[in-house]
Amino acid sequence: MADFMSEILISPSILSADFACLGEEIRAIDAAGADMIHVDVMDGHFVPNLTLGPPILAKLKPHSNKPFDVHLMISPVDQWLEQFADAGADIITAHPEAGPHFHRTIQAIKALGKKAGAALNPHTPPDVLDYVIEELDLILVMSVNPGFGGQSFIENQLHKIEALRKRVDQLGTNTIIEVDGGVTPANAQTVIDAGANALVSGSAIFKAGPQGYAEVISALRGR
Ligand code: DX5
Ligand code: ZN
Repeated sequence: MADFMSEILISPSILSADFACLGEEIRAIDAAGADMIHVDVMDGHFVPNLTLGPPILAKLKPHSNKPFDVHLMISPVDQWLEQFADAGADIITAHPEAGPHFHRTIQAIKALGKKAGAALNPHTPPDVLDYVIEELDLILVMSVNPGFGGQSFIENQLHKIEALRKRVDQLGTNTIIEVDGGVTPANAQTVIDAGANALVSGSAIFKAGPQGYAEVISALRGR
C-alpha cells in the first residue's frame, strides 16, 4: 500500500474519447496502463457543457475493473449521488462551489460506501477545505475552468497543489492529490514535483489514437 501511494496514478478522461465506442475506448486505456477511469459528468448548468449520466456509466462499468473516478460537475449534486454510486462510481468527486452544504455531500458519498473527493475550480482557494480535508479520500485541483477538454494548464494552480500537498503531509493522511486540465507529457513532471500523485489527462492521451495510448500514459507517469 505504501508503494501504491508513492506511485503516480494516471486517470484518462474519457471526455476526449470517441463517444461512439466508449466501451472499446475504456478497454483500450485499461490495457494501455490506466490506473483509473476518469468520467466527467456535466449538467449544462454548473458548467457550460453536457455529457452523460448514470445509465451510461452503468453500461461502461463492465468494460474495466479499474476504479471509476467520477467527477461530478453538476448542481445540485446530492440528489444524484446514489444513482452514480449504484451505476458503478468508485470515487465520487463533487465541487464545493456547486452547493452550500458540501460537508453533507461528503457524508452522503461515504454513507454510500464510496470514496469521496473535492474538486476546486481555479479561482477557489485551498482553504475552503480546511474543515473537511480529513474526511476526503481525494482532492482534485482543476487546472482549467471545468467544462471542456483541450484547454491550457493554468500555471498558478501549481501553488495550490503545493499548499495542499503540504497540508496533507502535515495531517499524515493518504489523501490523493489529483490534477485535472491541460496535463500533458510536457508538464506532467512539474505537476508531480508540485505534489500531485494522480493526473487526469484527456486530449493528450486520446489524440494519440489507440496505438499511442500506452506511450502517452507512460510519458505522463515519467517513465
Ligand atoms: C474538464 C474536465 C477534464 C478534462 C480534461 O472539465 O474535468 O477532466 O476532460 O481534459 P484535458 O486533459 O484535455 O484538459
Ligand atoms: Zn474531470
